[in-house]
Parts: sequence; C-alpha cells; structure tokens
Amino acid sequence: MPLQITARSSQPQALAADLIVLGVFAVSASSATPRGAGASAKSKRPGAAAGFGADFEAFDALLNGALGKAVAREEFTGKRDQTLGLSTLGLVKATRFVVMGLGDAGSVSDTDLRNFAAKAARSANSDKAASLTLVVPEAVAARLRPVAEGLELGAYRFTKYLTGDRKPKVSLDKVTIATSSKLDAKAKRGLDLGQRVGAAINITRDLGNEPPNVMTPAALANAAVSAVKGTGIKIKVFEFKEIIRRGMKLIQAVGQGSENEPRFVHMTYTPNGSAKAKRRVVFVGKGITFDTGGISIKPAAGMGEMKADMSGAGNMVGLMAAIAAVKPDVEVHAIMACAENMPDGKAYRPGDVWGSLDGRTVEIINTDAEGRLLLADALAYARDLKPDLLIDNATLTGACVVALGTGCSGFYATNDETANEFATAVKSAGESMWRMPLLEDLREQIKSDIADVKQTGDRYGGSITAALFLREFIGDTKNWVHADIAGPAFADRAAGWSPKGATGHGILTYLALLERTSG
Ligand code: BES
Ligand code: MN
Ligand code: ZN
Repeated sequence: MPLQITARSSQPQALAADLIVLGVFAVSASSATPRGAGASAKSKRPGAAAGFGADFEAFDALLNGALGKAVAREEFTGKRDQTLGLSTLGLVKATRFVVMGLGDAGSVSDTDLRNFAAKAARSANSDKAASLTLVVPEAVAARLRPVAEGLELGAYRFTKYLTGDRKPKVSLDKVTIATSSKLDAKAKRGLDLGQRVGAAINITRDLGNEPPNVMTPAALANAAVSAVKGTGIKIKVFEFKEIIRRGMKLIQAVGQGSENEPRFVHMTYTPNGSAKAKRRVVFVGKGITFDTGGISIKPAAGMGEMKADMSGAGNMVGLMAAIAAVKPDVEVHAIMACAENMPDGKAYRPGDVWGSLDGRTVEIINTDAEGRLLLADALAYARDLKPDLLIDNATLTGACVVALGTGCSGFYATNDETANEFATAVKSAGESMWRMPLLEDLREQIKSDIADVKQTGDRYGGSITAALFLREFIGDTKNWVHADIAGPAFADRAAGWSPKGATGHGILTYLALLERTSG
C-alpha cells in the first residue's frame, strides 16, 4: 500500500503525529554562537543561538528548551546524516521528536533529500509510528519529488511471510509534509511523481525478496504483466516452446534443467504524441530466479541469496512501472530473460557445446556462469531492435563484488561518450557505479578450441571476461553499457534509502538517464 502523503503549509507545531522529524541545515561552528552578544551554547536557551530556524525555535519553546540543551550536549550541528532524538513527554503533538541534519543549505542535493526522507520513514517504522510529520525547510520545499521517493523507499519492509507476533502491528501509513510556503502545482506534481517512482522501485524489491519457490520464471513474467497493465506499455511473453522455436538455445541450455520453465519478456513503451521518438533505448535484465550453479553446483553457505539473481530482470519491472508515471520522451524497450539454474538429468553440462540466437557456438566451461549465456541470447534479440543505446544489467559475477565491494556496481561501455552519459546519470541518481575497462588483452581467454567462443576465462579479471563475452553478442550496436550489479542488488544491511535485502539498485540511474534524454 502506498503511503498517504499530504503537504500542508501550516504551522508544523499544530499538526499531530506519532513522530515529528524536523530537517535543519547545518550551522558552521562559528555561526552557531556569534550572533548577538554573548549568545553561546551555554545560554539559557542554547537552541536560540544555534540558527536552526523558526520551526526549531518554536518547538524548542514548547519543549521548554530541552531541544537546545540536547543540541549543545550532543554537539549537533545539522551536518548531513546527523540525528538527534527526544521524547516529547506530551509537550508537543507527537510521541517522539527527531531533528535531522541536511548539511549546508547551499549544497543540499536531491540525493540528500531522498536520504533524509527515507531515514525519517524508516525511523517511523522502527518507532512504531503510524503517522509522521516531516518538516522540510522552505529553501528546499519545492523539491518534493526526491522527498516523496525517499518516504516510499524508506518505509519499505518485506513482511509478507511473517505471522503472529512477528507481523508488525504498526506501519507508517500517513505522512504530512509541513512547509512554511504554499505548494505550487509543480511541487505537487513532484510529490505525486516521487511517490509513484518510489512505489515502482518497491515492486522490484518485492520480486527480489520473494522466495525462489514462489518467484519462478513464470511468476516473474506475470509480475511484469501486472505491472504494466493499464499503462499503455505493451508486453510480449514467450513461453519455453517459443523460446526454443526462436532459436534462443543458450536460454534453453540454462533453463532446461529446471521444472520451472524459462520465460522471455519484451516490454515496449512509446511516448505519447510524438510521432517519432528522439531516441530508442533498449534495456536487458538477467532473470535467474534461483542460481544453484547447476551441475557446477555452488557451496551451500549463502546459496539462498541466489534468489535475488533475478534482480536485473526485476529492475525492468520497476523501471517500466516508473516510466508509466514519468513518461519520458524516449522509446524504451525492456527485456527480461528468465530461467532457473538447476542440476538435473536434463541440465546442461560443462563440456557441452551449444548454439545461440546469434548463430555462433559456445563451449560451456562452468554451468554456474549461466547469466552471460541468458544475456547472450537476450542481447542478440535486443540488437535487432536497432537501439541508439543498449543497456544490460545483471548480478553477473562475484569477481565484480571482489573488485568494488558490495555497495558499488561495475559498468562497462563501448565508448567514452556513452560511459560519460551513463556516469552522469549514476551521479544525479545518487547511486554508486564505477566504470571498468574492457581490456582487449583478456579476449584471448574466451577463445575456444572446439567452438566459436568459450564461456569463461580465468579466475583473474572475471568480471571483465564476462563483459567481453557479452560484447560478442551485441552485433554492430555502437553504444552499449553492461552493468554488473552483483554487489548492491541485495544488501545485508540498510543504508540510505536502501533496505536490507533486495534494493532495486540501478532503477534510479536508468530513470535519470531517460529523463535527461527527454529534457
Ligand atoms: N549469480 C552469480 C554471481 C553473483 C555472485 C551474484 C555473488 C551475486 C552475488 C553468477 O551466476 C555466478 O555464479 N558467477 C560465477 C562465474 C564463474 C563461474 C565464472 C562467479 O562469479 O563465481
Ligand atoms: Mn551462477
Ligand atoms: Zn547467476
């Protein structure tokens, strides 16, 4: 259920809620004390001297100066990410009161606002607060899209399978954004858009958190069908027979060892009104609903996390749901290659040679390097759409996580211009992705003695050889980006607007890229 968010331009002290979160800009150490003779952190109402603004003052007065004292005691200066919490003891119309730093007034980014709102929503849930008043300083009050995104993203929890005492009895459901100025139509639209984008990313998170006995390839394809229903976005789903009939032999190879048959999904968004869109962008996502490794089976420890090996495809669902709201002026295709990688009597084996949709043959070395096989066929399909820009995303290699850590994706691009465009989108989205090199020397590693291409290279440079393998299948597509999201797609702790578990990492970047194109 989406949050019920309203914006009010009334005095925040007058609004009742279980939790009040007040955002304040940073004061520098020098500006915290000097104004007025002798006003210092030790004065009667220390907050009065702190320069946190009129709302702060008003709450401090209601709290008999407790806020100012806490500021002094905890050396709170409003730095980005700094928080200060108080019990209100009934003095204001909330059970709990939290002040959060937004950093310097002049440099508050959309990322900072999204983080601020997400942290407020998350603390509401952990405080068992059903309602939240979020006080946003006037200087940033017009930028409600990232605030609304943050609220939806921060309030997210996956509690579907909890019962009895484990089921949370209170969830944040009502948010009032208090700003001192009246909201114009643009701010209201930002609020609405932000909420819809946040909710779209939460769909992707649900798909990644669902257990693999539920989130089968067919279920994943159905999730795409439901997500685009009524939006005007077209969708085609190929069942296993059709996948085989079309010659997607590598998807067949990976998927035929499972009772849960593969699916191939193609969604198309065409901008309204414009006879011919400026640009055609095609996205591709890896949708392995569970990766056991197949015959080259993985060790047991941590294998359960491989339920999120469909995150690249899951991102396609959330991205299209967000596109339905944002309506960029770009033609967008999203392709999902979905299968389950299982060991079985019918499973493909190391040593096998398989054909592909491209026509070339591939020597299988390790059945646990299944993602690149699925993607090879999906890329060969995608290139026929003649994309101006082709972007694939996949939880592809552990090697990429070794290189960049769990919080940062690696991305590869066929040229600098494309890489820069992608990096600019990453930055404006506030996500973390770092460019990796397509080292030509490593191509040697994927030469096969008995087939056209070898599936894997050595252990060293494993993320790069995977990218080089994929590049074999993009045909004459000039502008291609491959994002290896293996690290950040599934998190072992919450951070910023990302929860523990499936994160939806990547969607904000892709959206930023599409919106820049249309802007
Ligand atoms: N799905 C995994 C990659 C992965 C690792 C995703 C860690 C998320 C977290 C992929 O299919 C895989 O098993 N890759 C192998 C490739 C190897 C066999 C060449 C790997 O990285 O070990
Ligand atoms: Mn694998
Ligand atoms: Zn995998």
